[in-house]
Amino acid sequence: MKILITGAAGFIGSQLAHKLYQEGHELILIDNFSYGKWDNLEFEDHSFKDEIIKMDIRDKEGIATLLKAGDVDYIYNIAGIAPLPDCQTDPVEAISVNTVGLVNLLENARKYGVKKVIQASTNAMYENETEFPTKEDHFKVPTLIYPNTKYCAERFAESFAKTYGMNITCLRFANVYGPHIDCLRKQPPFVAYMIRELYYNRTPIFHSTGEQRRDYIYVDDLIDLAIKVQQGEGFDCVNVSSNTNYSVNEMYQIAEKIMHKDIPAKYADNTHYWEKYPALYEGKYAIKEEILEHEVNKYSLCDNTYAKEKYGWEPQISMEEGLRRVIDAECEMLTKIGEK
Ligand SMILES: NC(=O)c1ccc[n+]([C@@H]2O[C@H](COP(=O)([O-])OP(=O)(O)OC[C@H]3O[C@@H](n4cnc5c(N)ncnc54)[C@H](O)[C@@H]3O)[C@@H](O)[C@H]2O)c1
Repeated sequence: MKILITGAAGFIGSQLAHKLYQEGHELILIDNFSYGKWDNLEFEDHSFKDEIIKMDIRDKEGIATLLKAGDVDYIYNIAGIAPLPDCQTDPVEAISVNTVGLVNLLENARKYGVKKVIQASTNAMYENETEFPTKEDHFKVPTLIYPNTKYCAERFAESFAKTYGMNITCLRFANVYGPHIDCLRKQPPFVAYMIRELYYNRTPIFHSTGEQRRDYIYVDDLIDLAIKVQQGEGFDCVNVSSNTNYSVNEMYQIAEKIMHKDIPAKYADNTHYWEKYPALYEGKYAIKEEILEHEVNKYSLCDNTYAKEKYGWEPQISMEEGLRRVIDAECEMLTKIGEK
């Protein structure tokens, strides 16, 4: 099969590329390197460094050129602006990439006959949900910019599927963890941050009480499902979740045990996470305290019955095993680069 992967220099995109390469597929990889890293393209058995094309998913002509031959079977749109505060501070860019970028891919996929488009969506769109575990077809419309960019992207995907009979699956990822998770960015995802602080023997600062619970999915399990959904026809949205959740404190205890550390965490109030983004407090209307509080203390748990029943998928990696693997990979990487 010939497969286009966008966001291939990022955490999930690079791991997906590696798996599909191992399965023998012909790949076209693109990334604009706004967040992606060259190191993510280097695997023990293969380097994608000379193959990746520096291209933006919004590039109409560029994407058309890649698809024009008409022999691309699948598109995985993994590119996106994922950090929530980045989307909140530059909503125009976030909507442009996360929503309009997908529409550019869909329009070209329509013209040039791609068999299926698979979109990286998010369970962040369940931010206002109060029923758990949350099913795909029942939730309240989100509030913040990031989940709305993905929510709108799904609506356009549905529009293309219904209007043109295209096959599109939107995978609503839970919090994804695994090797290549970015522990060096300004606001790393929680798992990456916790490992980094433990590695450097620093006291981590968690927001709120640390009792907030989220659901997670190990990257290999996600990729397994992402490959299985190639076969589905029509349009659907699929939760990619382990169907269980963990508190920040529980995750930290597991990580401490694996890393043989004992460093009590400190706790900061709800606003601490957002203080690095003063733009949100400037101007006539500042971001509301209740919105920050809700986001920091958000509870998430997604029902994965649909993925199991329709695609015969079952997550395989336990939290202990997944954390062990990501800890090994992150510590090896941090050792290589030396203390920053
Ligand atoms: N990691 C998670 O927990 C998680 C959860 C839910 C959804 N997602 C979604 O999954 C996708 C991948 O997430 P990730 O964690 O790998 O993030 P990441 O930042 O590591 O990877 C995203 C990649 O997209 C690239 N990119 C951004 N804008 C682009 C553009 N306009 N054109 C081309 N490339 C562009 C970036 O350079 C980066 O390499 C994102 O769309 C994200 O919203 C991630």
